[in-house]
Amino acid sequence: MIPFGDLKRQYQTIKDEIDKAVFEVLESGWFVLGENLKNFEKDFADYCEASHAVGVGSGTEALHLALVALDLKEGDEVITVANTAIPTICAIVFAGGIPVFVDIDEKTFNMDAGRVEFLINKKTKAILPVHLFGSPVDLDPLLDLAKKYDLRIVEDACQAHGSEYKGKKAGTFGDIGCFSFYPSKNLGAFGDGGIAVTNNSELAERVFLLRNYGETTRYYHKTKGFNSRLDELQAAILRVKLKYLDEWNERRREIAGLYNSLLKDSDVEIPFDSQFSKSNYHLYVIKSDGRDELRKYLSERNLQTQIHYPLPAHLQEAYQYLNTPRGSLPITEKIASKILSLPIFPELTDEEVNQTANAVIEFSEKQ
Ligand SMILES: Cc1ncc(COP(=O)(O)O)c(C=O)c1O
Repeated sequence: MIPFGDLKRQYQTIKDEIDKAVFEVLESGWFVLGENLKNFEKDFADYCEASHAVGVGSGTEALHLALVALDLKEGDEVITVANTAIPTICAIVFAGGIPVFVDIDEKTFNMDAGRVEFLINKKTKAILPVHLFGSPVDLDPLLDLAKKYDLRIVEDACQAHGSEYKGKKAGTFGDIGCFSFYPSKNLGAFGDGGIAVTNNSELAERVFLLRNYGETTRYYHKTKGFNSRLDELQAAILRVKLKYLDEWNERRREIAGLYNSLLKDSDVEIPFDSQFSKSNYHLYVIKSDGRDELRKYLSERNLQTQIHYPLPAHLQEAYQYLNTPRGSLPITEKIASKILSLPIFPELTDEEVNQTANAVIEFSEKQ
């Protein structure tokens, strides 16, 4: 069987270091808001070349608290995409915002900046681009719009640890960038976790207060707040793993290159690699007209695949109240029936990539 992901393989490669880090936290008896978190926040901010990083409970929470910190008010509109992991939308809604969906670019699968301006009105507060699959959104046109209309930019970089846009880390262009440490991410914890990254010290301070009941000093609360903290165990684990992130991302890019060379003449469409960006290949997503049959064919040969995502947000039952009917985001809707994610993770072997790609080609030849 070729698994879609296998976190056990990665653990085995760094087991001694991880076990030591975990053991030290257990021995210390200090589990929340301690030195490991402080050190990891510094390490991650340095990695991103940003001034501040604030560890929180999850990527969803990073987005939620970022929007609250930006003073999003009930009924404010946030322009985003419908082909994203649903937590992007959950975060906007729980911060009181109204998600307004813009269609995507057919090649990049990302927000089509050219369509955003038509959606801006008096209620628009922010644009929330998602660096989907680790492939950076074309940010310059969005930054121009933000300047022109005085809007905030929150980057959903939950899948984009180490991805680069024009030579700089994704997540550091807007007012604030939000990352997830869900276990299967390129930098994954052994549980939930997230972080918000910003060069704005006031904003960092707000997220810092919001994550811990609005507390300034013990039992004194300057603002309302939440409980959303990256715990010491996760921070200690992430500190170890961060050292390997570049190496792991490089291996993912190598795997993507191998898939590309094997699949380029087949009848599936390989991912678009834009010149201005460097993807971390969180996912390797192909397009196929016979997606469901291809998936079945691969599954019968014990090759696991996934679909990210089968039903766009605007068509989900939960978001019908937003009144974005079927047909209103034609490209988003079209690609949802064609996309297929093939296995990609640093410990995947070349042999496994070859086997997967060969099965895709075999299927194509049978059509
Ligand atoms: C694009 C995107 N946004 C937000 C999130 C939410 O992150 P988390 O699962 O850590 O809450 C995820 C991860 O699931 C994601 O992939």
